[in-house]
Amino acid sequence: MAKSTTSYSCSACGNVTTKWSGRCEACGEWNTIVEDGGLSVGPKKGSIGGMKGNAIKLTDLASQEAPLPRTHSGIDELDRVLGGGLVPASAILVGGDPGIGKSTLLLQAAARFSEAGLKVLYISGEEASAQVRMRAQRLGLGSANVQLGADTNLRNILTTMETEKPDLVIIDSIQTMWADTVESAPGSVSQVRSAAHELTTFAKRKGASVILVGHVTKEGQIAGPRVVEHMVDTVLYFEGERGHQFRILRAVKNRFGASDEIGVFEMSGHGLEEVKNPSALFLTDRENTVTGAAVFAGIEGTRPVLVEFQALVAPSHLSQPRRTVVGWDSGRLSMILAVLEARAGIAFSGLDVYLNVAGGMRVNEPAADLAVAAALLSARENTPLSENCVVFGELSLSGALRAVAQTENRLKEAQKLGFTRAIGPVGGKQAQVSGIDMAQMSDIASFVVETFGTT
Ligand code: TYD
Ligand code: MG
Repeated sequence: MAKSTTSYSCSACGNVTTKWSGRCEACGEWNTIVEDGGLSVGPKKGSIGGMKGNAIKLTDLASQEAPLPRTHSGIDELDRVLGGGLVPASAILVGGDPGIGKSTLLLQAAARFSEAGLKVLYISGEEASAQVRMRAQRLGLGSANVQLGADTNLRNILTTMETEKPDLVIIDSIQTMWADTVESAPGSVSQVRSAAHELTTFAKRKGASVILVGHVTKEGQIAGPRVVEHMVDTVLYFEGERGHQFRILRAVKNRFGASDEIGVFEMSGHGLEEVKNPSALFLTDRENTVTGAAVFAGIEGTRPVLVEFQALVAPSHLSQPRRTVVGWDSGRLSMILAVLEARAGIAFSGLDVYLNVAGGMRVNEPAADLAVAAALLSARENTPLSENCVVFGELSLSGALRAVAQTENRLKEAQKLGFTRAIGPVGGKQAQVSGIDMAQMSDIASFVVETFGTT
């Protein structure tokens, strides 16, 4: 006889236990164990070893699959992040902070996908249909052929999907959905998990794509267990800084395309607008003569993007000087400071260090190491870097500069934006781009000598 008791699961890793504890045994996180409802634990009657399933249809690896027929929304920034358009019967999770613009983006996408010939359902669990309609009218999408629904009951939503047979269903948001088979409240781990599971499997069986909106907790995770991320084919994060108008849609997982692709949008009075040339946007506030600034020629997914690193170095009155970073990894900043001290003899002890990526962009590429080092050195030496110069290269702990991928694309983007010089590592695939004078350095010490004339 199956014993039905209360079970608990970890909201960080999804581990299920039978008793509550302050710390998750599986992932070690504190205060993440929450009560599930109605999950039965213990062995069930008729164990799986007794077998009463259906035989799986098997194919061999050589069988040919037709290329995926993708639907293009016509919003290039979105299509690219999806890996070249929407794949039929795929499941996508779009995560982001509340108020960042997820509903706006998906309403615009819904309208464009319906123009492209898909039957689109937009189910809102947060706003009434009238509110969504008002927003659509404000966005100039009033005449789009999108079917709106406002409900949170999963059973009603699945029934609607069964009768309407849509090609695409947008669920805004997964945290508001609830299944009457699960006892806990909407937004709880077990509700989010079972709602996501029911929706994705049902949609896939019916050949529909589903886009789930997920709110992100203040720790930066999609609220609810990680298992939602595993259930879907594609995970996109919509991010941006509060004070800035632009937003970045970033693919962190994609079974149908590159996972580090970004799409850039700008929030305007009439919705999100595509930013076709993000480098120009990130560099607009640039002042060449300022010390502590270095332009990094980066690559985001398949696209080159130029961003400016800004550093400020000031005498510290604290026993442990401040290290503040926005838009870059703080551990990596410490590493670069250590490399500068150990390999180039430039110490930052007794100095507060602030590092910022201009425009609110977030950079994850190790190739930005040299740009960070250049900005720090420029601030420390109070000497501006030469005008119209871009910098890139990964720093190793030995102080050596490592070659990075896609040198040619980086240089071409720099050239397009009016830069004439570049500093990068030796080795790697050599690239010549006319109009760019490229200086190659083997290590950080020679970079310091060449650029600032000191060691
Ligand atoms: P929204 O899409 O509701 O965010 P989310 O679904 O991620 O919670 O966006 C809300 C914000 O966007 C709100 O602060 C107002 C702003 N906004 C504009 O600036 N212009 C617009 O045209 C729209 C629709 C929203
Ligand atoms: Mg919303």
